[in-house]
Amino acid sequence: MTESTPVAAPRRAALAPAAPTHLSADIVARARELIALYPEPRSALIPLCHLAQEQDGWLTPEAMVDIAGLVGVTPGEVLGTASFYDMLHTESVGKYVVAVCTNIACLLGGAAELLEHAEDSLGVGAGGTTGDGTVTLEEAECLADCDRAPCVQVNHRYVGAQTPESFDQLIDELRSGARDADIPAHGTLIRVRRTTGIEADPAAVVEERRAAADARAAREAASDGGGA
Ligand code: FES
Repeated sequence: MTESTPVAAPRRAALAPAAPTHLSADIVARARELIALYPEPRSALIPLCHLAQEQDGWLTPEAMVDIAGLVGVTPGEVLGTASFYDMLHTESVGKYVVAVCTNIACLLGGAAELLEHAEDSLGVGAGGTTGDGTVTLEEAECLADCDRAPCVQVNHRYVGAQTPESFDQLIDELRSGARDADIPAHGTLIRVRRTTGIEADPAAVVEERRAAADARAAREAASDGGGA
């Protein structure tokens, strides 16, 4: 009987960064600015997902490939992360995502009746998109606007408590473009565009990246020693 040769556990293959082909030059430029703020490029994954949604309204498979190349992970890891968060959509949504909160404070304030009215007037159930692609209706958990029940958000902007009548008026205003100034198309977040409040000292970023690399190398060395 021959002695079997120990086989080392396969290490994660190094990912060759691929040039973005789907995201626009403007989006990629901002993505690189965001990546530069973090010790690890992959830490910018979620902000980059929001940027991609700014372009397409949702996270397309092509955008996920670009994001993966930009931060050094696989497209599957982008999908695995994005699918965890309600604000990130991995399937097509309407220009306006209208979320009706049905958590306790809003439920007591008539949310169930409002959602039922919204489904009837839009002709889609919660989770559905109107045939013209304008509105996706969502049933949401607490949106942190409990004192204005029943709370409604459109594209993550608060629009205050709604009655069935005011809801219909809101939808009319969205369709006519009358709310374009305060409610941009789905995916547009100020957070990934602001230029103040998230600035970082470049020297500090370099130092944090070095420390992170050292810590990673130490973990890998300890892992190799433990498996010997
Ligand atoms: S319960 Fe509806 S916003 Fe909090």
